[in-house]
Amino acid sequence: MKIVTIIGARPQIIKAAALSRAIKCHYANKIKEVIVHTGQHYDDNMSQVFFDELDIPRPDYNLHVGSASHGVQTARMIEGIEDILLKEQPDYIVLYGDTNSTLAGAVAAAKIHVPIVHIEAGLRSFNKAMPEEINRIVCDHCSTLLFTPTKAGLENLKREGFPIKEGCPSTLRGTASSTTDIPTIDNPKVYHCGDIMYDNSLHFAEVAEEKTDIIERLEVNGQPYILATIHRDTNTDHPERLTAIFSSIIKLSEECQVVLPLHPRTAKLLKTNLDEHLQKQIFGCPNIKLIPPVSFLEMIALERHAQLIMTDSGGVQKEAYFFKKPGIILRPETEWVEIVETGNAILTDADEERITQAWKHFKDNPPTLFPEIFGDGHAAEFMLEQMLDNFASTH
Ligand code: UD1
Ligand code: UDP
Repeated sequence: MKIVTIIGARPQIIKAAALSRAIKCHYANKIKEVIVHTGQHYDDNMSQVFFDELDIPRPDYNLHVGSASHGVQTARMIEGIEDILLKEQPDYIVLYGDTNSTLAGAVAAAKIHVPIVHIEAGLRSFNKAMPEEINRIVCDHCSTLLFTPTKAGLENLKREGFPIKEGCPSTLRGTASSTTDIPTIDNPKVYHCGDIMYDNSLHFAEVAEEKTDIIERLEVNGQPYILATIHRDTNTDHPERLTAIFSSIIKLSEECQVVLPLHPRTAKLLKTNLDEHLQKQIFGCPNIKLIPPVSFLEMIALERHAQLIMTDSGGVQKEAYFFKKPGIILRPETEWVEIVETGNAILTDADEERITQAWKHFKDNPPTLFPEIFGDGHAAEFMLEQMLDNFASTH
């Protein structure tokens, strides 16, 4: 069986590590993977670092699309991906998450009848102002095999008309579809399984402690700190929202150190969307460590040692949960609703008052119960088994 995997943005490169690792360990003689990097992320610390560190095979193709408006960036990707699919003639295209690289892969593949496997299917924010919401809806509805990481994801697919068995999910993972026909784009098959990022977090957690010295380098060893990341366009592109978030960071830094690896989008927009006084406070505050994006192993080490994690990232809010840390989610809603429902994270939006209240709440009541809602760390093997089974049934 031959698959073409599309990656492009940082989290997709990390997710792909789990699938490539499972292919290498269990299915090297059965699955050939062709990796296509769209070039959506291209700085070394947003892309190359993950190949170096996570043992991901080098991409077979790099489209080098770079940054551009949504339309231009996606169009360039579609053109490049279509050429590769026609040349490679894969049995499946594998798409992760909800970025423009995901959308481009879905549109290119669906039009030339390459079956799509969507990993992280069914997640919804119910906010179509988010570019990611459009990307995930389109991708899900063009897919043949859909792997949903959570119960909420499965319920969303059911609501949108996907054929889901009653009472599912009753097990950790399994087929959720009520139909047994051979899956196609018109008759897709849905599986409930764990989250592929959980596979990675478990796999790399111990390695992170051995192989990185970021905790020592930042001199936060044994000291409480808040780990923060901010990159959503709704936060970075609106001066009043970015100001509210950074004002709250200044406030929290009076009580606790803050470590903030800056996404390049945020690094650029800080300079235009915050007034000079706030910029001076942020850059001059000894308790705020603004650092360039870190590697995945460094990020895991930072997450494991943090007192609390404050983020608008999808991946980072889950990793907070994986490592049993309270989370402040700098968004009005989340696709990962279970984290909030269990009381382990609070949605504060970009609201200074709510952020401060959430910090106080978790400082006084650190959460202790983190039920296993993201599987058992073996989602990638399960997905590959299902792909192979479906491939066998059609050949
Ligand atoms: C993208 C995804 C988002 C995901 C995030 C992960 C879309 C619509 N958005 O957002 O869902 O959460 O990746 O990080 O696909 N830039 C650089 N160097 C880089 C990459 C980006 O400087 O290597 C800067 C450029 O100024 C660029 C901006 O960051 O314009 C935004 O990059 P882009 O890939 O368009 O969106 P992200 O905000 O990264
Ligand atoms: N991450 C990283 N270095 C950083 C910030 C994040 O390795 O400096 C990792 C993080 O651990 C997670 C993933 O990148 O696995 C999340 O990516 P991001 O926040 O860019 O996007 P999202 O998950 O919101 O799509």
